[in-house]
Amino acid sequence: MQTVSTIGGLRAALAALRDRGPLGFVPTMGALHNGHRSLVEASRRQCDVTAVSIFVNPTQFGPNEDLSRYPRTLEADLQMLESTGVDVVFTPTPEVMYPAGASTVVDVGALGDRLDGASRPGHFRGVATVVAKLFHLVQPQFAYFGQKDAAQVAVLRQMVRDLDIPVELVVCPIVREPDGLAMSSRNRYLSPQERRTALALSRALAAGQALADSGEVQAGNLQRAMEAVLLNEPGLKIDYVAVVDWKTLLPVDAVKSGALLAVAAWVGTTRLIDNAVLAAR
Ligand code: PAF
Repeated sequence: MQTVSTIGGLRAALAALRDRGPLGFVPTMGALHNGHRSLVEASRRQCDVTAVSIFVNPTQFGPNEDLSRYPRTLEADLQMLESTGVDVVFTPTPEVMYPAGASTVVDVGALGDRLDGASRPGHFRGVATVVAKLFHLVQPQFAYFGQKDAAQVAVLRQMVRDLDIPVELVVCPIVREPDGLAMSSRNRYLSPQERRTALALSRALAAGQALADSGEVQAGNLQRAMEAVLLNEPGLKIDYVAVVDWKTLLPVDAVKSGALLAVAAWVGTTRLIDNAVLAAR
């Protein structure tokens, strides 16, 4: 496994590997967990070369968000990536990704202001900008993202379509702890009590999903069922509870297959998200 921190180093490392076959890319912000591992494994199954980036992207954090305390665990991350057979890891500094004077941004428009984009203004502009640059540098045939960041997936699909970026986005299922908590780098902020409180997110989705499975099609009723679970949990503050079309992130009235149940909530000072995609009906 080669670890490179410069753009020249990345290009040279990948140039030497490209003729092996398809290149898969997993962009990350580090603090890797089994959710990331599943993305790397998916790339390893599908591609001959796998590259991973680790970059805590400052432009996707708001002024009062957790950029400075975001977990940074580079040594453990590199060990994990080595053991999963990754070929190249790109660990740029902010100066490499955003050299002095950099001013170009990628903005997908209104889509980027929905769900997490509504709660975190500018977040998806930061995500789209950094992922566009990473795609440009790595030029992968496949790129792997977790379904947990469902709104991010919608934004990046739009970006890839609009800019005709020749990459296929592969969305991998949410990886959960045995008790249902969706894996997230931010789970490590949680105290033991908050960790228990956080289980309400997956319980809320299960309630919405169960109601849908019983034949309920009114999105409002699914939303209320999910809200009821979250409102019943002391120590948790709802950010959003939504039933949306996964492509547009706009609310739907009646659900059909592929609709997204999405929740975001604050547990203490930690904002957590989770979602479920309704199966074919
Ligand atoms: O999902 C993430 O970890 C980040 O948003 C990403 C895609 C690596 C961009 O910084």
